[in-house]
Amino acid sequence: MDRFGDRKTIIGILMCIAIISMLHFITPVESPQYHDVYDRLYYIPIIFSAFFFGLRGGAAVAAGCGMVFLLHLLLQWQSHAHHVDLTGRYLEILMYLVVGALTGALSDLGRKQRRRAEGAYEKLLDSFEKAKESDRLAAIGTLAAGVAHEIRNPLGGIKGAVEILAGEFGMEHPKRRFVDILNKEILRMERIVGEFLDFSRPQEPCLAPDRINNVLKSVLDLSSKNLRKNNVRLKIDLCEPDTTFNMDSNQLRQVFLNLVLNGMDSMPGGGELSITTRRRGAEIEIDITDTGCGINPDDEEKIFEPFFTKKQGGTGLGLPICRQIVERHGGRITIRNRSDAQGAAAMVVLPIRCAEESEAV
Ligand SMILES: Nc1ncnc2c1ncn2[C@@H]1O[C@H](COP(=O)(O)OP(=O)(O)OP(=O)(O)O)[C@@H](O)[C@H]1O
Ligand SMILES: [Mg+2]
Repeated sequence: MDRFGDRKTIIGILMCIAIISMLHFITPVESPQYHDVYDRLYYIPIIFSAFFFGLRGGAAVAAGCGMVFLLHLLLQWQSHAHHVDLTGRYLEILMYLVVGALTGALSDLGRKQRRRAEGAYEKLLDSFEKAKESDRLAAIGTLAAGVAHEIRNPLGGIKGAVEILAGEFGMEHPKRRFVDILNKEILRMERIVGEFLDFSRPQEPCLAPDRINNVLKSVLDLSSKNLRKNNVRLKIDLCEPDTTFNMDSNQLRQVFLNLVLNGMDSMPGGGELSITTRRRGAEIEIDITDTGCGINPDDEEKIFEPFFTKKQGGTGLGLPICRQIVERHGGRITIRNRSDAQGAAAMVVLPIRCAEESEAV
């Protein structure tokens, strides 16, 4: 009930108590047959308030009615006590309290159960909606993967044809730049189609013993030229002793390359990229921290969504693929703004879960 409704109910209950009490006080005690009825009339406001306001409301109104009734007994009946037995009437006060408390408690219980049932119903609806949505997305995904796959073959043909054309149009030819545009756009399409297929048909990791520090070193070898060109300084702190464990190093290389490139892209004017690995019990934690623009708080939830990108030429599949690979290794990945608000920090945690685990010597 809303506040306005509550106030109206309270006024109704109070008026009801006032009328019943007035009947008690104006009816002479010489007419006990009326008083027998009036005594019981108090149950109406008591039950009402217990129903609407629960245990507290029921008990409070029962106590109020009991007090008014007690006053009436003391003022008007007590002088007749020598020839009328008042025990029943005094006991009625106790009954008010019992009925008020009991009805209120039951009403509270009913309300709680109703709320629980409503909550369960909402959850059911929600999970049904989610199931429908994921079915829909799966269907769209399958369709899009089919289309991407079909695009890849003619794209191969076009690429071959452009290579032949490139031979025909030498560097000095006035139309050579069109061949270069074709080549650039074909590469872009190949990347989009390839990443989309990687995402929609993820490969199970092909596990083999390796060291995470080796994977990171090879990623840095690959990207060092690019990093230098973009004025990005590297700060590297790799854990010792380095642990060997089962991983798909090709897939993890893809993860760290995307994280390093994301860090670099966030610092167009240059900055510092620090890479740290450390062992925590049965897990390895890899942190890649930049001093870039950070993530807009509104985007924090979205950056792992497929196709979310703020970059021209980006596919927005980098992070979803990273998450897929890390989760298939049994790990987790998070990206947050740094607490000092100076860029973003990506954290990958991988479990060391292989039988062949051994410490480096
Ligand atoms: N270190 C970071 N600092 C700031 N923003 C980031 C960082 N990493 C990711 N983001 C944001 O998350 C978005 C999604 O990243 P994701 O790697 O999935 O795709 P992308 O980098 O835009 O495209 P692609 O990886 O295909 O080149 C980015 O466009 C960027 O806005
Ligand atoms: Mg990326």
